[in-house]
Amino acid sequence: MPHESRLSFSAEELLANVPVKEPLIVKGVRCHGGFDADGGYHSPRTLWRVPAVEAWQKQHLATSPLPLVEIPEDVIPPHALGIEQAKFLVREGVREPVIRMLTEIAIVEGFGAMIRELPVPPLKSFIREDVAGTALEHLSRGLFEAHARDEAGWEQEGGHRQMWDAARDAAFSNPTISPEVFQGIMARRGQEPPAMFPELGPQVERLVRFMVNVLAIEVFARSTFAWAEDVLSDPTVSDAPKEAADLVRYIRSDEAPHVEYLRTALSEITARTLFGSGGKEFSGKQVVDALMDRALKVMTRQRQTERVAQLHDVIRRTANRADVEDLIAQYDALATPWTPPARYAA
Ligand SMILES: [Fe+2]
Ligand SMILES: [Fe+2]
Repeated sequence: MPHESRLSFSAEELLANVPVKEPLIVKGVRCHGGFDADGGYHSPRTLWRVPAVEAWQKQHLATSPLPLVEIPEDVIPPHALGIEQAKFLVREGVREPVIRMLTEIAIVEGFGAMIRELPVPPLKSFIREDVAGTALEHLSRGLFEAHARDEAGWEQEGGHRQMWDAARDAAFSNPTISPEVFQGIMARRGQEPPAMFPELGPQVERLVRFMVNVLAIEVFARSTFAWAEDVLSDPTVSDAPKEAADLVRYIRSDEAPHVEYLRTALSEITARTLFGSGGKEFSGKQVVDALMDRALKVMTRQRQTERVAQLHDVIRRTANRADVEDLIAQYDALATPWTPPARYAA
């Protein structure tokens, strides 16, 4: 059967690589992905995963009046550390905030491995309609595993975790990494939020909430990665403008399949009916929309306020200069202005 018409794949197929001529090797570590004879980069595990997701998207659009789930651009604030702000700090000799930002990105990418631990209850136990030949059916049959491997690496092969560390170390010539970065991330990790749909049971809500959150993180990360590519490719701030920026470009291209499979599986939920153990039903759209709305409000607020305050704190503590308040005033003047959409006010 030609691939366009197939809707069912084995886990091995969804994890299979496009054959490449040269592997990607970074600082002696073999990373995922590789290059074809023309030097073009191919993301890992995309031989079948990419056409499979396209086929599931087409099927969703052909069988449901609902569009594919989309995160509206107007809710995404600019990156908390702006491009001009980052370059200004580095040129002023204050490198720590940028180094910490890159370290944090690497650590958070490594947490992507957790997606393979996410329990997926039997789909028939909470979805009323058929799910044969959907992305949903393949979440625990290759899709979550491929995502985990892309983010955290797999066996001897490095993934995004290792690639971000390498990009940072190339651009800033092997800086010392403060343990505060990891501690700060752990301290910010919140409790599980209150249930919005207790009748569905904690496992079902956790599954949908996790997918919604990861999709939002992936989409918000686009601007983080664009920020990194711009900053790390600037020879006035980066010691390895080509090498570091190329790595970020490879990572960015690897992220597209994550966004696409998650929005496809969530779209498939929006087109179906979810039910709990007591038989109470909800439209999948209502569940996805409510969890998405809550996640986006939290993330938008964090980026706009908490992250900005943390950056001020890091500058104050690491700049080591008497005129640090002047420096911060100049830094603040370079911030990209942004207003949240009116529906997010309050
Ligand atoms: Fe990633
Ligand atoms: Fe990702």
